[in-house]
Amino acid sequence: MKNPDNLKPRTPFKEDLKQASVSLKATNDPEKFYHLDSAPGKIFRPMGRVYPETTQEHVREIKEVFKGLSTHGINIPQVDFVVGELGWRNTPKLIAMVDEIKGKNLHDMLDFAKSAKEKEFVKNLVQDLFLKLIEYIFSVEKNKSSFVRDLYKPADYMYGKARGDDKDKLYLIDLDPYFHIFSENDKNDDFKERDRSNDLLTRIQFFSKVILYWEERLGLRFDKIRKFIKEMLNTEPKNMPAQAFAFEFKIRAK
Ligand SMILES: Nc1ncnc2c1ncn2[C@@H]1O[C@H](COP(=O)(O)OP(=O)(O)O)[C@@H](O)[C@H]1O
Ligand SMILES: [Mg+2]
Repeated sequence: MKNPDNLKPRTPFKEDLKQASVSLKATNDPEKFYHLDSAPGKIFRPMGRVYPETTQEHVREIKEVFKGLSTHGINIPQVDFVVGELGWRNTPKLIAMVDEIKGKNLHDMLDFAKSAKEKEFVKNLVQDLFLKLIEYIFSVEKNKSSFVRDLYKPADYMYGKARGDDKDKLYLIDLDPYFHIFSENDKNDDFKERDRSNDLLTRIQFFSKVILYWEERLGLRFDKIRKFIKEMLNTEPKNMPAQAFAFEFKIRAK
């Protein structure tokens, strides 16, 4: 957003951040990603406003939630955070410093798969990712933990290499911390607990539609996913995610 007071951005870096657009497409906000000449391969990404007294806590929460993802085998690029004052009225913002992934966007891979071989390859790739995300949802429900709300769009993943990788991997690259934070204390609060559960349910409904959409587009069935949901429903018929997924996929118990 243009700064109405023409304030010069203040960051911890000696050089000015430069708008990055070359290798980054699919975003129409020119002030979303930046580069530094002295840090090739890094993307600088201003995120929401932070308040000095809560910044440390906020960064701790973000790292904790990201750690939950890696436990479930969902890779994210190397990321660290600094605070800078830039954008609208130079408000203090967290700036994520993220490794650039060299590769292809998963949405494009799904979109452009033509031959049966290409389709089969990308189907397996996306099916494994979706399964990990489903497991993540089950674990969030079981542990009543904070979660990332925005995980279910293939456009938010890249298949490729981070610095040091010798083979291609899938990475979640949209690291905007769009989180539902749910703390230990919130577990004793009925209202917050209901809110957590409802929010997770809306994410399951959205995610299921994404899965069904890509099944149809590829003309292939995600059998592993259907089997997993059926097993979960049979072992824990009262489990909220099991019921919600089963409803969306029209899967019945037994
Ligand atoms: N770390 C990264 N490495 C490589 N490409 C990236 C990275 N982060 C973002 N991109 C590219 O920028 C596009 C938009 O990024 P995303 O984080 O999803 O932004 P938005 O918040 O606008 O959805 C992605 O589809 C991807 O092509
Ligand atoms: Mg995105």
